[in-house]
Amino acid sequence: PMSPDTLLTGRILGFDRSPFDAGDPASAARLHEAVLIRGGRIVALGTAHALRAQAPQVARVDMGDALITAGFVDAHVHYPQTAIIASWGKRLIDWLNSYTFPEEMRFADPAYARRIADRYLDLTLANGTTTVASYCTIHPASVDAFFEAAQARGLRAVAGKTCMDRNAPEGLRDTAQSAYDDSKTLLRRWHGVDRLSYAITPRFSPTSTPDQLSALGALWSEHPDCLMQTHLSEQTDEIAWVRSLYPEVRDYLDTYEAHGLLGARGLYGHAIHLTSRERDRLREVGAALIHCPTSNTFIGSGLFDLAARMAEGQRVGLATDTGGGSSFSMLRTMAAAYEIGQLTGTALHPAQLLWLATAGSAQTLHMGHLIGNIAPGMEADLVALDLASTPAIAQRSARAGDIWEALFPTLMMGDDRTIARVWVAGTAFSPCHPRA
Ligand code: GUN
Ligand code: ZN
Repeated sequence: PMSPDTLLTGRILGFDRSPFDAGDPASAARLHEAVLIRGGRIVALGTAHALRAQAPQVARVDMGDALITAGFVDAHVHYPQTAIIASWGKRLIDWLNSYTFPEEMRFADPAYARRIADRYLDLTLANGTTTVASYCTIHPASVDAFFEAAQARGLRAVAGKTCMDRNAPEGLRDTAQSAYDDSKTLLRRWHGVDRLSYAITPRFSPTSTPDQLSALGALWSEHPDCLMQTHLSEQTDEIAWVRSLYPEVRDYLDTYEAHGLLGARGLYGHAIHLTSRERDRLREVGAALIHCPTSNTFIGSGLFDLAARMAEGQRVGLATDTGGGSSFSMLRTMAAAYEIGQLTGTALHPAQLLWLATAGSAQTLHMGHLIGNIAPGMEADLVALDLASTPAIAQRSARAGDIWEALFPTLMMGDDRTIARVWVAGTAFSPCHPRA
C-alpha cells in the first residue's frame, strides 16, 4: 500500500553527526520546522514555508510542540519472552531454565507464536520503536510468525531462528545439521523480502556444540550480507561455564572466532565483562556490542562501561533485551543507560542517549543509511514525542531553558503515554495500547 505524501510540521530533530564525536554533543543535532515525506521516504527538511512552496498540494500534518525524531531502533530483543517479562528472583542461568525455556517451548505451536508476535509488535509500536532485531525460538514457525507480523505492519525488522543443540531441555534442541538447514531455508525465504532481514542466531556458546557453531559459521560465510546475533560475557558465572565447556579457547570471544562467528556484521549482546584482548579484537573487526541496560540491572549482570567503549571507538547499539530486560520502552532504556553511566562515571548527554536509541543502533544493524535519522533519502520511520505527557513530566519540562532540558525529563520518566504518533515508512499509526 502506498503511504500518503505528507508535509509534517513540529519540532523535528535530525543528527548531522554522532554526539559521541569530539565537540559539544548538543551541536551534533539540528532542529527543523518541517519535513516533507513522499513515497514513504524523507524528501526534504526546512522551514514550513519553503517546503510548502516545494509541494503545494501535499496534506499538512501539524504535531505542534511535539518533538519528532527517527523511530527507535531496538537492537536486541527476544519477542518470545514477551509473556514472561518481569519474572522474579533469578539470575541468568536460573532465569533461562525457570522462565525462559518453558515459555519458548510453547512456540512449538505456530498459532501461539503468531499471537505473541502480534502482541509484541503492537507493544513496541505503542512505545515508538519502529525497528527491532529479534531472537525467535528454535522452531522455524516462530520465525515465520515474526516476519509475517512485521511484514503486515510494513516494518523494517531483523530476526533469526535461535539455535541450541545442548544444555537446553528436550523439545528445545535442534542439531548442528538441522540448525544449518532450517536457518538456510528461513534465510532464503525472508532475507531481503520487503523490509525484512535475516540474522543467523546461535543463542550463545553454552547452548551450542562446537559443531553447531561451525555449521552456523559456514552458513554466515555463504551469506556474508546477513547479520549474526548472539550473546557475549553477560554474567561472570556464564563466563566460567564457557571456560569449562571450551577448555581450549583463550576467552569467550574466541569460542565465536574459532568457529567463523566473529565479523563486522556480528552483534554481540551485553559484552559487559570483556578482557582487553576481547575489546581490541572486537574493535579490530568492526563488530558491534549491544548495550541492554534494563536487563543488566534486572538480571544482575553488571555495569557496561559505555563511555569507555565509545571513547575507544567501539560501535555500540542500545536495546531492551525484552524479556530479560524489564521494559518494552526505549525511553525507559535510555533512562537505565543514563543511570548505569552515572554509576560508571559519565553523565550521558540527552543527545547521546537519543542518538544511541536511533542512529547508533541503526548503524550496528548496518542500516544507518536507511533508518535511525531524519535526513533526505531515508525511510520515514518517525516518532512524535509529547514532552509533557504526564503531570510530573509537564511541570518539569515547563521550566526547561532549551530543547535538551525539555527532552531529558521525558527520557527519564517517559513511557508509552509519551508517544503521540508513530510513522512507519510514512504511514501514521495512532498508538494502540494492547492488552492480552
Ligand atoms: N543469554 C542466552 N540467552 C539469553 C536470553 O534469552 N536472555 C539474556 N538476557 N541472556 C541470554
Ligand atoms: Zn538477549
